[in-house]
Amino acid sequence: MEYSENLSFLQSLQASFCFIFFFFTISFSIFSFFLLFMRQKVWCNCDICCGYLTSSWLMEFGNLCDWYTHLLQKSPTHTIHIHVLGNTITANPDNVEYMLKTRFDNYPKGKPFSTILGDLLGKGIFNVDGDSWVFQRKMASLELGSVSIRSFAFEVVMAEIKHRLLPLLSSYAEKDGSVLDLQDVFRRFTFDNICKFSFGLDPGCLELALPISQFAESFDLATKLSAERAMVASPLIWKIKRLLNLGSERRLKEAIKKVNVLAKELIIQKRKLGFSTHQDLLSRFMACIKDDDYLRDIVISFILAGRDTMASALTTFFWLVATHPEVESKIRDEADRIMHPNQEFPSFELIREMHYLHAAVHESLRLYPPVQFDSKFARQDDVLRDGTFVMKGTRVTYHPYAMGRIEAIWGPDCMEFRPQRWLNNGTFFPQSPFKFPVFQAGIRVCLGKEMAVVAMKSVAAAVLRPFNIHVVHANVAPRFDSGLTATVRGGLPVVVRERRATDQHC
Ligand code: HEM
Repeated sequence: MEYSENLSFLQSLQASFCFIFFFFTISFSIFSFFLLFMRQKVWCNCDICCGYLTSSWLMEFGNLCDWYTHLLQKSPTHTIHIHVLGNTITANPDNVEYMLKTRFDNYPKGKPFSTILGDLLGKGIFNVDGDSWVFQRKMASLELGSVSIRSFAFEVVMAEIKHRLLPLLSSYAEKDGSVLDLQDVFRRFTFDNICKFSFGLDPGCLELALPISQFAESFDLATKLSAERAMVASPLIWKIKRLLNLGSERRLKEAIKKVNVLAKELIIQKRKLGFSTHQDLLSRFMACIKDDDYLRDIVISFILAGRDTMASALTTFFWLVATHPEVESKIRDEADRIMHPNQEFPSFELIREMHYLHAAVHESLRLYPPVQFDSKFARQDDVLRDGTFVMKGTRVTYHPYAMGRIEAIWGPDCMEFRPQRWLNNGTFFPQSPFKFPVFQAGIRVCLGKEMAVVAMKSVAAAVLRPFNIHVVHANVAPRFDSGLTATVRGGLPVVVRERRATDQHC
């Protein structure tokens, strides 16, 4: 009797608790939406906000970044406000210099960004500000700046080109007319490279016959779902889904769990095997960091930094070169002039001598930066160089994609793919990083910049001499999927043909 009374008491307690929890969740959600509504001023009636809210820009533009470019080009200061997003967007080089250098302290990545990527990136360099960033930046600059790691990175890339990329392209060239997705190839290529470079591990993703590794698959899913968090109207939506472990948040949690298990296993193995003689980045960091969670965070940030950016840069470079035969033949002429006729692969020194190719790579990054925009959050009220007032807490975005297409910056031919604009009497002539912030600029500039350009040039020189790459939809401008880096929707279908010996020498 007493037992059944206790049981029914417990059941009623449980029911009341469920009811209170349910009531609290619903009230909290309604209240949060109300706050969001108040904060975002969704009633804003200006043309830009209406265009954003109704997606009417889609009638004229294929990509959101093209619409922003149009708006930024039209604005006299090259700065706009999307009130409903609480976002100030600028394509003004003076503002960019101000944010990234002069008032760097006032424009950190900020909490909203680090919360969005926090589950995946933890305390890795990409996701932190302040002391933790200073510490990792110092260590990473020492490592990435060393001659030995640069030559290790070059060896890794050349090995992947020789043993995987070129054999794969040859096998497709033999299957006359077979279509290959070059973007997929580059995503696998860069994943192999970055894993070999970061962990000293070869996932073998470029063996197309093999299924893509579980690590690559989970990593892809985790970055995609993390980026989607930034696209929902309010962070409260994904936060509630995460709390209740629902839908995309459940899938994100599972993907991150897999990434963590694999990364941790790797660290444990390395510790067991001994790492002091190894050249990869993880081994170098392990020499001075003992905390495995921190090591995991550092290495995951490097994979994100060096993988998707490189794949995106290579994809749009090959699209541009294949659709501009005059540029393609100048690249080949230069490679033929600098390399020995029987030399299949360029050395590190010869790559540095290829100024036209260097210019073509920069020109392609100008038009198609892999990171199309990058946001910071103002710590204090401020006024940008063009007079724009920025309220404390505002998201301020600089937009390299738009900046590459602004006449006031690059002249009336800014939409043309013209590598010569980077050359002065045949020698590469760099431009201000604040008008070309493709690798960011100023105090937090990309640490892999030189390595990335060398890798792109190595792939271009090795592939363009023996092969003709025909883009299947050559006249269709790329459309991009949403994400942290620019990914071409539908990939880059190409047909590969071996160049005849006569083509190669004339
Ligand atoms: C074409 C290829 C690349 C592009 C366009 C690129 C672009 C960028 C950009 C825009 C940032 C700033 C991101 C931000 O703070 O929000 C960045 C940071 C960084 N990049 Fe790259 N990157 C490339 C390749 C690489 C490679 C290959 C590595 C190294 C293996 C690398 C390492 C880093 C690191 C460590 C940071 C963080 C710097 C810091 O926060 O202090 N990047 N990169």
